[in-house]
Amino acid sequence: MDHLFSTKIGTELEPAIHFLSANEVVAIPTETVYGLAANALSENAVLKIFEAKNRPHFNPLIVHIKDWKEASNYAETIPTLLSTLAEKFCPGPITFLVPKKDCIPDLVTAGSPYVALRVPNHPLCLSLLQQLPFPLAAPSANPFGYVSPTSANHVFDQLGNRIDYILDGGNCIVGLESTIISFMDEEIPCILRLGGITKAEIETIIGHVNENIHQNSNPSAPGQLDQHYSPFCKLRELKNVDVQNLRNSTILFYSPESNICRQLINQKEILNYQALYFTENNTETQAAANLFSILRDLDSKGITDVYFEWAPNEGLGLAINDRLTRAMAKRD
Ligand code: TXA
Ligand code: MG
Repeated sequence: MDHLFSTKIGTELEPAIHFLSANEVVAIPTETVYGLAANALSENAVLKIFEAKNRPHFNPLIVHIKDWKEASNYAETIPTLLSTLAEKFCPGPITFLVPKKDCIPDLVTAGSPYVALRVPNHPLCLSLLQQLPFPLAAPSANPFGYVSPTSANHVFDQLGNRIDYILDGGNCIVGLESTIISFMDEEIPCILRLGGITKAEIETIIGHVNENIHQNSNPSAPGQLDQHYSPFCKLRELKNVDVQNLRNSTILFYSPESNICRQLINQKEILNYQALYFTENNTETQAAANLFSILRDLDSKGITDVYFEWAPNEGLGLAINDRLTRAMAKRD
């Protein structure tokens, strides 16, 4: 631990540059979730990410670059369709899987010949990347399997004693991890993780893409593991539930305007449930931005059981429901 700098959480870039240049780990803000970053070109630095996060080494890391123009430094080839997508969405919540160049250590890709590249859309994060002579490997800054962090305090709560500095860029605006799309060998690109850019948005630009987000064994993107993003609180879906079971419960509605919320409101006093909402103003962007902090709040308030309502199955709602499905899978 280095005592050159007095605070562990701050908006100054200087400590971040200092520690990253010394091949140490620093938490960084992005528009999606906070990342646990280190020099992507140093195996020694990247190893420290796995240690801090308690993450299995078979799980590869996304490499964050300051500008899509840099991609050719790390990718052997860049398919035309990908350039078209990158032009449209970079910087933004999308990650591209492309054949890697040798300068990317095998540890970063867990031995795969493909590397995941992304240009984050966050001003402080981009200034940091611009001032570093190397790209940053970063997974989400949560202990493996737990909910991703969307504020500097979330990171501090769980990893504060394991890292030297947390660069505070405020609350993450998107709140869901990036969409991962592979351009491996097939002609049709394939979405491996739903995220901040929807499949529909991608298809508007490049036409039909495949989707493969439910692999279990040997997943090509372990965000695909069935149990992931899980709070300690037990999540139950608010579907075919006997109303009497809702007595004195906590209910996480999608929004105050959802049908089920409106139906139950007349019985609120009798049932005495506590109502929470993913979005107060009934927008999918707000629901996405709130999702992980709401799940964390349940744990920090000591709530052990909650009924939740699914998001509408469209647009970002699909990615929200994907995270909820994984969050409700049982932890052993
Ligand atoms: O929005 C995001 O993508 C955030 C921010 C910090 O950038 N990062 C993030 O990282 O969500 P992580 O590690 O929590 O999730 C990245 C997913 C993992 O499931 C990982 O297995 C997959 O991407 N991945 C990374 N590199 C890969 C590769 N070379 N091949 C296949 N999957 C890869
Ligand atoms: Mg993660």
